[in-house]
Amino acid sequence: MPNPSGVQIVPSLLSADFMNLQRDVRLIEHGELEWLHVDVMDGHFVPNMTVGPPVVRALKRISSLSLDVHLMIDNPAEQLDWYLEAGADLVCVHLESAGSSERTDARAARPARAARAAGFSVSVTELYDPEPLAGLLGRIRAAGRLAGLALNPGTPAELALPFFNQLDLLLVMSVHPGFGGQTFIETALEKLRFVSRTAAAQGLEMMVEVDGGINAATAPQVVAAGANMLVAGNAIFGAANPLAALAGLRAAIDGQ
Ligand code: DX5
Ligand code: ZN
Repeated sequence: MPNPSGVQIVPSLLSADFMNLQRDVRLIEHGELEWLHVDVMDGHFVPNMTVGPPVVRALKRISSLSLDVHLMIDNPAEQLDWYLEAGADLVCVHLESAGSSERTDARAARPARAARAAGFSVSVTELYDPEPLAGLLGRIRAAGRLAGLALNPGTPAELALPFFNQLDLLLVMSVHPGFGGQTFIETALEKLRFVSRTAAAQGLEMMVEVDGGINAATAPQVVAAGANMLVAGNAIFGAANPLAALAGLRAAIDGQ
């Protein structure tokens, strides 16, 4: 499949058949694909659980696709090395989780969460400490892998600015992380525009990834807003014919 736009479609295994992961990887790994998205969830940072290092290691063994490992976990500082050792080519950590490996930070975050639940506005800066995050990103690059930073839908993109020169990829979540098959949140478009414009203005070549609710209707919108890595789970693996769905997404992006 030709890829004139240079935009990557990144299939997310979250919607694949977990009893037949190898079969599903084989199904889609033809053509212009370079990346496979692996969602790691711990049941704490998000209310769902998926896979851990053994599955990342097994995927690395059977596929030549590069592994884009999206860590939705509370304590990335403690577990990062597991994923580097398992063979992740890119590790993406959440800005909202990076400081929470410190017990004191987790405790401090509790009142903020309660305030938000009650409808008060709480600054995300109260929930994380930028120093551990910078350290984490540095560890990923020091291991020779690509470093990514993910932002939840409610997190202002401005909070990622201090880390831009440490990033190979910035991930704009366009659904609340945890589950596949959700509806695209439109405010992600403005965030994508801001991130891609700012990176270009700073002469940075970072990849701009979007994750959640990507289908043939939303794909052209996110590309127009500056995204060049489009994660898609349900639109590919939820389709009767994943390869045809992939071709449909590609055609939508290329405007055919
Ligand atoms: C959600 C995950 C996504 C998920 C996207 O928390 O991060 O990668 O697979 O699924 P779709 O494409 O179905 O919205
Ligand atoms: Zn993801």
